[in-house]
Formats: sequence, C-alpha cells, structure tokens
Amino acid sequence: MDSLLKVQVIPNGPLKVEGMLEVELPDGTVETKEKTTFLCRCGHSSRKPYCDGTHRKMDFQG
Ligand code: FES
Repeated sequence: MDSLLKVQVIPNGPLKVEGMLEVELPDGTVETKEKTTFLCRCGHSSRKPYCDGTHRKMDFQG
C-alpha cells in the first residue's frame, strides 16, 4: 500500500499530505512532492497552495 496517500486535517491548520503526489499550479507547471506536503486550508498563505504558517497569525479556526 505504498501508493496510498495519507491526508490529515490539522486542527486550525493545513492539510498534511504524506506520500508522493503531483501538484498542478494555475500556470500549468507541475511540482512533484515526494514526502510530506502541507496544503493551505485557511486561504491566507502567500505560497498557495502550500501552507506558509500564516494561519497562526490569522487565528484560523477550522
Ligand atoms: S493553512 Fe497554513 S497558511 Fe493557510
């Protein structure tokens, strides 16, 4: 089951994705992530779609 992705919803924070995945960005470029990826869930990251920690400053609840 090595190919099975694990997605964990971090309380008041990002989605933690463990496993290999490809992220297609709005400009069409594709980034390959091989281990752990944190995806922004609060909408305030300056590195979308990735989390940059801004959710803490924004006191994101969810
Ligand atoms: S969830 Fe971390 S910056 Fe949005």
